[in-house]
Amino acid sequence: MANPSILILPGDGIGPEVMAEVRKIIDWFGAKRGLNFDVSEDLIGGAAYDAHGVPLTDEALAKAQAVDAVLLGAVGGPKYDNLDFALKPERGLLRIRKEMDLFSNLRPAQCFDALADFSSLKRDVVAGLDIMIVRELTSGVYFGEPRGIFTEGNERVGINTQRYTESEIARVARSAFELAKRRNNKVCSMEKANVMESGILWREVVQKVHDEEYPEVELSHMYADAGAMQLCRWPKQFDVIVTDNLFGDILSDCAAMLTGSLGMLPSASLGAPMANGRPKALYEPVHGSAPDIAGQGKANPIACILSFAMALRYSFDQGTEADRLEGAIEAVLASGLRTADLMGPEGGKPVSTSEMGDAVVKALDASL
Ligand code: NAI
Ligand code: MG
Repeated sequence: MANPSILILPGDGIGPEVMAEVRKIIDWFGAKRGLNFDVSEDLIGGAAYDAHGVPLTDEALAKAQAVDAVLLGAVGGPKYDNLDFALKPERGLLRIRKEMDLFSNLRPAQCFDALADFSSLKRDVVAGLDIMIVRELTSGVYFGEPRGIFTEGNERVGINTQRYTESEIARVARSAFELAKRRNNKVCSMEKANVMESGILWREVVQKVHDEEYPEVELSHMYADAGAMQLCRWPKQFDVIVTDNLFGDILSDCAAMLTGSLGMLPSASLGAPMANGRPKALYEPVHGSAPDIAGQGKANPIACILSFAMALRYSFDQGTEADRLEGAIEAVLASGLRTADLMGPEGGKPVSTSEMGDAVVKALDASL
């Protein structure tokens, strides 16, 4: 059988710097675990604009559609701020997400023990936290029509429309239940069925998909505002949370900050199953291209490395190896190594991007 395939799109700014560290990890799994991937690389964002005059070429998009998983760094930078809207680096990212129809956005909030004191919450509230927010990514109020700013009488009115079809709700619900089966079999669905018709439909459809296809998974429903409170009060009560695009945007940012730095946050965006049964998938750190630190070896590569751990788990059925990689990161953090973004006010000497990557590789060796 052919090796599973990965397309790497490093992008701009710190994107290529953190991706170089992921390359070391991919090579390690090939050399030490016999997990060989066919890795190809292409351009996206400002890098693609510089080379080809567009933020994503049709060829790069075709490659992304054909591989088992895409790994993306980050796009954008001040150099491109004055480009036409359609040529901006971010358009490359939006185009790839849209063309691959990546409707299910997975945002974990995971607390590494060594960083528990870095959280704004008490240690026992966050230590050991490992939850996943599944955000619907391609519909809802960010896309619904009518939208716009109109004039009514003698004043203007801004309009956006929350719109969800049954099939859009059902497919993201399935994605959450599938995820729950690989985790702790527990899903909480969040909407505002008390005040929104789209919320009533959301609740009905999620319940129906559950009853007909995933009766073995424990399902609860919560109003999204109550969910926000519970996330800050006692986040460990949750495992998988599934919610719409707008609530998911806010709740996932809130959950992410329970655990610390932007430099630690991975994500996955999944689409429909391909012929081989795996979902179309794009993995990327939550952070952007960080122009303020680009080119200085200061970036924390862990968000990008954790994104690869998600690829191992969700695209390549290598949950044990994903655990190994996350364990290696935990060990490195426990040994006291920190990139600059993880240093508290007490200071200390931060390690560089490549020193952090090398330390993870060493910890992987130690795990054998
Ligand atoms: P950003 O995420 O790039 O940076 C925000 C702050 O966090 C900066 O101070 C940065 O130094 C720090 N930071 C981010 N990632 C880090 C890491 N791995 N290690 C250490 N520190 C890290 O967001 P910002 O500054 O708003 O945007 C910069 C550029 O990135 C813009 O062009 C923006 O459009 C783009 N962007 C791209 C995204 C993507 O590719 N998915 C997402 C967000 C922004
Ligand atoms: Mg957001």
